[in-house]
Amino acid sequence: MNILAIETSCDETSAAVVKDGVEVLSNVVASSQELHQKTGGIVPEVAAREQGRCLLPVLQEALEKAFGPKSLAEQMTMVDAAAVTYGPGLIGSLLVGVEAAKTLAWFWNKPLIPVNHLEGHIYANWLADYHAEIQFPAIVLLVSGGHTEILLMEGHQKISRLGGTLDDAAGEAFDKAARILGLGYPGGPAIGKKAAEYTGTEGGFLPRPLHDSDSFDFSYSGLKTALLREFTRRKGDSPTLPPEQVALLAKEFEEAATDVLVDKTLKAATKVGAKAILLAGGVAANRRLRDKIGDSAVNVKAFTPPLAYCTDNAAMVASAAFFHYSPQSPTSVAADPSLEI
Ligand code: KG4
Ligand code: ZN
Repeated sequence: MNILAIETSCDETSAAVVKDGVEVLSNVVASSQELHQKTGGIVPEVAAREQGRCLLPVLQEALEKAFGPKSLAEQMTMVDAAAVTYGPGLIGSLLVGVEAAKTLAWFWNKPLIPVNHLEGHIYANWLADYHAEIQFPAIVLLVSGGHTEILLMEGHQKISRLGGTLDDAAGEAFDKAARILGLGYPGGPAIGKKAAEYTGTEGGFLPRPLHDSDSFDFSYSGLKTALLREFTRRKGDSPTLPPEQVALLAKEFEEAATDVLVDKTLKAATKVGAKAILLAGGVAANRRLRDKIGDSAVNVKAFTPPLAYCTDNAAMVASAAFFHYSPQSPTSVAADPSLEI
């Protein structure tokens, strides 16, 4: 079954074709990151306008990469269903994708499968070579710009929440930390790069919030404030902090943020007797997080998706759609209230 998916929940515009939920025939991602670098973050109106501008070329490219340079009518005969992210996300951005998918599905008479963005992130794991090895129950650590969740996955349609952030999301914290340290946007990759430059041994001076609580909840706003205080204290009256001090603060922030994520995920895995740990979301691209979870998981296998599928992309949406679609009760454009965003 070939599913053509569209993802426009934040600032990326993506279209992909995935066969049977696991084989990526194409995955095209256009990012408006350069525009957001100027403002140090996403301006929703700017993101949605850019998505309106580039969705059609992205769709055309995805179809051509999957099926070759045929007419649209011929390409659509090879598509069995359309899928689209319906939320959560920026409302203007979501509207661009949902309206396009509705039109496409209606015109070409295909079922339309609505996909929750967070479920989409989880399915990045089914696009990896290891997908056949994943066993349930699995613990999912979903860490993105807007969410930080520990989920219990007992089957494809059986996902429940064990805990999550009480304030900032992990990705949001990375972005804010990068802003404090003057490293630009997006902050996650910038922090990771700067942290890798630190070769000293200093560390352990920032808090690990909620690390020792029994819950599976997180809190990142205090960590961000502690970083700001440390930055201000070390800088004193100088206009800037020396580069090695910036690298140290980036490293310490990364360690503090990932220590809590890793330890709580392992604790959840032990509690439910998980057979797999699945990482998901943009922050899952963080090298330290990937290494730490891989190194410390014993008696349970930790899976980390390919970097290209960690951040927002439509291939993961197509995969989630495949595993949630039921041909017995196909979703029609007109009937599904979840598409009325
Ligand atoms: O999943 P995603 O692409 O979009 C949302 O659904 O939010 O995640 C974006 C977030 C941003 O906050 C970005 O800074 C973070 O993921 N991120 C990273 C890395 N790459 C992206 N955080 C840490 N390390 C990275 N390498
Ligand atoms: Zn996302």
